[in-house]
Amino acid sequence: MNTSTKDRTGIMLAPLPYPEDALEPQISAETLRYHHGKHHQTYVNNLNMLIAETPYAHYSLDEIVMRSEGSIFNNAAQVWNHTFYFESLSPKQEAPSGEFLDVVLRDFGSMENLKSEMLRTAVSLFGSGWVWLACDKHHKLVVMPLQNAGNPLTHGMTPLLAIDVWEHAYYIDYRNRRADSVSALWDKINWRIVGERFRQAE
Ligand SMILES: [Fe+2]
Repeated sequence: MNTSTKDRTGIMLAPLPYPEDALEPQISAETLRYHHGKHHQTYVNNLNMLIAETPYAHYSLDEIVMRSEGSIFNNAAQVWNHTFYFESLSPKQEAPSGEFLDVVLRDFGSMENLKSEMLRTAVSLFGSGWVWLACDKHHKLVVMPLQNAGNPLTHGMTPLLAIDVWEHAYYIDYRNRRADSVSALWDKINWRIVGERFRQAE
């Protein structure tokens, strides 16, 4: 039987959780169309091509991220990171729960301090990568810069929020102004989901 394994068990592109123009004006529809429809889709396509007829074809995306390296890791983690990133945003800003806000106050002093720390980290991250808010085994919040396709899971941390600082995430709307793009994005973070991820962290 010549059924394509890739078609039946391949990694699928997760749909955007909102329309392409839903994050305007902070993120334009054109940026989202390229970011999700071209960049994210390309990572999915590359991953499916790389894992075809390898043991990875039978793994979940999480397992591939945790167990692979090189090109397979880079593409798998970029698929994972982008799905997580798009799900971290919301057309309407969702406020953090009181419980999560207390944790932010405990570890950063204020939401404004957390924003400053993530902005500073985004600006100082050299080249392409991600700025993460993650928590450790003791549920302490940490801001982590990770280059390229880095993901906190492979560092034993639980990801809570991802900010994409690859140029493709902001160049159409903000040209070289990475800090401005992160600052604007702050108004679109879905803190309800971030808090939920924290609550479910082991
Ligand atoms: Fe991206």
